[in-house]
Amino acid sequence: MIELKFNIEGGDFDRAGTASSETKKVLKQLNIDPRVIKRTVVALYEGEVNIAAHAFRGEVIVSVSDHQIQAILKDEGPGIPDISQAMLEGFSTASSKVREMGFGAGMGLPNMKKNADQLQVESVPGSGTTVKMIFNF
Ligand SMILES: Nc1ncnc2c1ncn2[C@@H]1O[C@H](COP(=O)(O)OP(=O)(O)OP(=O)(O)O)[C@@H](O)[C@H]1O
Ligand SMILES: [Mg+2]
Repeated sequence: MIELKFNIEGGDFDRAGTASSETKKVLKQLNIDPRVIKRTVVALYEGEVNIAAHAFRGEVIVSVSDHQIQAILKDEGPGIPDISQAMLEGFSTASSKVREMGFGAGMGLPNMKKNADQLQVESVPGSGTTVKMIFNF
């Protein structure tokens, strides 16, 4: 099993994208189906941008085993008070600063759901959010 770990700082949009691009390189080296790589990288990118956009800091752990990629994105931040509302296409609480960076369409979580085989979002308001995604191949 291969494990990759990345730290993400809230507000750091210069580095948001590192976890997904580094993961992409490793998945390519492992000769994983390009369609699976694409789904994983798209979902991971949305997840890491969410930490940069909405949380204070977080950690991304990607584990690759024989037939599965698992991604855990755990952050310290304000949390999500209503997860089903957050999952709706177009729902966003992004700040004006985040919108200026080109984010805030409210499409990240719906996109993660579409691309992952399993998506689990757990959050404690006032404390943080943990997102788990599984991609099978
Ligand atoms: N890690 C997080 N911590 C706190 N709130 C979050 C987090 N991830 C998502 N949210 C909340 O869920 C909402 C919807 O997230 P989603 O990724 O779908 O859209 P967005 O980030 O606002 O915009 P987009 O992803 O399209 O740029 C966010 O606006 C925010 O309120
Ligand atoms: Mg988002």
